[in-house]
Amino acid sequence: MTAGKAFMVTGGASGIGEATAALLAASGAAVTVADRDETGGTAVAQRLVAAGGQAQFVKLDVRDEDSVKAAVTQAVAAFGRLDGAVNSAGVEQKGQWLHELDVADWDFCTSINLRGMFLCVKHQIAAMLPTGGAIVAVSSAAAVKGLVGSAEYCAGKAGVLGLVRAAAADYADRGIRINALLPGGTATPLARRSTAGNPRLAGTLRIPMGRMAQPEEIAAAAIWLVSDGSSYVTGACLAADGGMTIA
Ligand SMILES: NC(=O)c1ccc[n+]([C@@H]2O[C@H](COP(=O)([O-])OP(=O)(O)OC[C@H]3O[C@@H](n4cnc5c(N)ncnc54)[C@H](O)[C@@H]3O)[C@@H](O)[C@H]2O)c1
Repeated sequence: MTAGKAFMVTGGASGIGEATAALLAASGAAVTVADRDETGGTAVAQRLVAAGGQAQFVKLDVRDEDSVKAAVTQAVAAFGRLDGAVNSAGVEQKGQWLHELDVADWDFCTSINLRGMFLCVKHQIAAMLPTGGAIVAVSSAAAVKGLVGSAEYCAGKAGVLGLVRAAAADYADRGIRINALLPGGTATPLARRSTAGNPRLAGTLRIPMGRMAQPEEIAAAAIWLVSDGSSYVTGACLAADGGMTIA
């Protein structure tokens, strides 16, 4: 249900975004891999093409509106339209106590995870107005849990839920669906950096399924949310977290 369609995946150079781009390309979709990591993103796009898929890499910094606008324009130019987007670009928390958290660290994290999400959703919606489409905002179980040492991350990810609900309400009758995906702990470079920089965190997390997700398990949920299989789903928050948010 994604074959023949054109998608943009931010954060597509690594982790959940990379797995999502790979699953989309394998399904017969054309994929724009967008990331600030040019080396990693180019390698991902090349791998997808070598495997017989349709893909391009576009360099993008989600904090910068001109960069986001140009990336969306390049996605539409390459494949003729934009049917869907999975916004996975993001960074982890510093692991600080809130009273010791620098404003610069707060601003860095929220400028990517929340402001960057706003800019991507804004320009993707503009590109989808003529055709309709579906957008996934990768939030986190941290949006609804109080994780230790994670104020800037939890706040930004919770803000994404508000953005998604408001955007879904604005475009529900214009053929554009916007949903939030809430992964739990997922085996990616971000999760490794996050627990290394925040040793208190690992001891407080409980995952009822007893293991972290593989990125492909989160990608499968993202792909359902941008496919026609979820045609009546908008403004939703789908947890793919091994039960973390119910623990
Ligand atoms: N891994 C987890 O346990 C976990 C859990 C919940 C939510 N998430 C969320 O999932 C998303 C993907 O995380 P991941 O674990 O795959 O991490 P990752 O580090 O493997 O991938 C994140 C990608 O985002 C890119 N990126 C970062 N800042 C950017 C910017 N300013 N502009 C463009 N690209 C930028 C990075 O270059 C990287 O390729 C993030 O939003 C993260 O917060 C991850």
